[in-house]
Amino acid sequence: MEIRENYSLKAYNTFGIDVRCKYFVEASQESELLEFVGAYEFDPDEVLILGGGSNFLFTADFDGTVFYPMMKGIELVSEDEEFVYVRVGAGEEWDTLVDWAVENSYGGVENLALIPGHVGAAPVQNVGAYGMEAGDTIFKVEAIDLEKAKQVYFDAVDCQFSYRDSAFKREWKNKYIITRVVFRLTKQPIFKLEYGSIKSELEKWGVELSLQNIQQAIISIRNEKLPDIKDFPSAGSFFKNPVVDSRTADYLLQQYPGLPVYTIDEENCKLAAAWLIEQCGWKGKSLGNAGVYEKQALVLVNQGGADGTEISYLANEIKKSVFMRFGVWIEPEVNII
Ligand code: EPU
Repeated sequence: MEIRENYSLKAYNTFGIDVRCKYFVEASQESELLEFVGAYEFDPDEVLILGGGSNFLFTADFDGTVFYPMMKGIELVSEDEEFVYVRVGAGEEWDTLVDWAVENSYGGVENLALIPGHVGAAPVQNVGAYGMEAGDTIFKVEAIDLEKAKQVYFDAVDCQFSYRDSAFKREWKNKYIITRVVFRLTKQPIFKLEYGSIKSELEKWGVELSLQNIQQAIISIRNEKLPDIKDFPSAGSFFKNPVVDSRTADYLLQQYPGLPVYTIDEENCKLAAAWLIEQCGWKGKSLGNAGVYEKQALVLVNQGGADGTEISYLANEIKKSVFMRFGVWIEPEVNII
């Protein structure tokens, strides 16, 4: 285990913001982490648990302890007729798991190709894209309880997964360090092709339906729309798509027939925040060194040398103008520290 003091987080957040934390604790084994958390007391307000850093915007130094769980490994722990159960270390790259699953012909994560970040972060914000969510395949979550300094296990149902949300983001925030996640993947893949242009992409290529081809189609669609973090430091979608009641959605649709609306259930709908932002004229615009990506208005980028406050200022201006025009508040999905 490595403990560093007054440590720069520049290489640990995809916006590339140069802030420091008081302590940085990197652990690759549960036993050493358990021993460490047992020796000290931690105030959840002075704790930050970092995965790939693709969901944080740092606006100031962090005067607390950053935990960086780096447990590794992808192991098939059991199987039955329909499923395999795969236990994955929190420190594995999410996309490494997707590659592994596709190579071994297991279904359930192929639409989530190329999402940046670590496996340990997937249950926290229930990463999702192209009609699939990580929560649909998560079977169990293993974590360390920071207060009790003991290993705990959660079933998927305890985690309360919903759109970009889970108990780890709310009542359990900073209380548990996720160390490993057990996924339940299907032996017979169930293809999900309804979202956006997956089907047309596959038809264009004239290829058969397979996990590999779906993964490749998703990669190609994402590359078309989303920036490469190396060229455009960003955190993917900066905002969540706002959830509104169906009546509000109907009312907005009457006024703005082009607004993309997705039904969640009988009472709730999701609106495309990117569309709302684009209509307000923000797409491709910048304020100082912070900008709105020209191909996807949900993505804010550091155009070089921006500090966190500059990006957060831009986000606030966007949020206000969307509210003024549509009466809907959009909320950041990124954690602003
Ligand atoms: N749209 C615009 N302007 C834009 C971008 C999109 O009007 O600049 C419209 C599109 O035409 C489409 C709708 O908005 O009708 C939705 O666009 P898209 O399919 O690109 O999806 P999204 O809702 O903007 C969400 C996720 C993405 C994920 C895609 C695909 C959130 C906050 N974001 O974006 O996630 O890749 O769906 O499933 O839910 C990420 O988390 O970093 C991320 C990129």
